Amino acid sequence: MSDDLVPNHVAIIMDGNGRWAKQRKLPRSAGHKQGVKATQEIIKASGKAGVKYLTLFAFSSENWQRPKKEVSALMDLFMQALKNEVQNLAENGVRLKFIGQKDAFSKKLYQQIEQAEEQTAHNDKLFLNIAANYGGRWDILQATKKIIKQVQIGSLSLEALDETILEHELATKNLPAPDLFIRTGGEQRISNFLLWQLAYTELYFCDLLWPEFNAGELEKAFDSYRLRQRRFGRTEEQVV
Ligand code: IPE
Ligand code: IPE
Ligand code: MG
Repeated sequence: MSDDLVPNHVAIIMDGNGRWAKQRKLPRSAGHKQGVKATQEIIKASGKAGVKYLTLFAFSSENWQRPKKEVSALMDLFMQALKNEVQNLAENGVRLKFIGQKDAFSKKLYQQIEQAEEQTAHNDKLFLNIAANYGGRWDILQATKKIIKQVQIGSLSLEALDETILEHELATKNLPAPDLFIRTGGEQRISNFLLWQLAYTELYFCDLLWPEFNAGELEKAFDSYRLRQRRFGRTEEQVV
């Protein structure tokens, strides 16, 4: 596959862990555990295929509303996955970054996150962004607050404010916009993921549950992406 046909930035809503477990009469936490395995495979396959940026939705701002037991199982799993995987990611050229409101996590998890980011900070083969306690509305709002502050103290004028300046305050600053969005689990919605950033992203929905998603399925998504014509508002004649 030639590199320019591979999406540079892939953003994924990894959905369907709970249903995967339910189908097997297992607790939801077992589905999340299996989901981690799919995540590992997809990270590897993305790097291999030449994807430069991979952004994974691991926990939304709204997911705190789930039963306490599930939330705490998820937090334990994040902690465990970080402990087990960071060394491996570091050795494979992956730069890990968390986007979202990190300070809402326990001190222990927060420290683990910081350490993982530090440990991989020098890498540049694959930029892996984990959206955890992330919400698109939160992101736009926190950026807006920072902008207003700049205007208030006079370091930015309202006239000078443009999309590039706002983008620089988003949690995704320095990341290009996603080229391809994938959601597994059959739902066709954004669920407060990257609202600003997905403006011109190609959308791909897959009925498979996240634990069933694999490298071959990722290739199918890339195949679909390759057939798309991205016009960004222009006419077909203008873009060919
Ligand atoms: C996605 O799977 C994982 C998280 C939201 C953390 P779900 O847990 O939402 O799985 P379903 O949608 O209930 O099957
Ligand atoms: C989106 O999935 C969030 C993550 C996968 C982390 P949800 O399962 O929370 O989305 P809804 O509630 O079905 O929209
Ligand atoms: Mg879900």
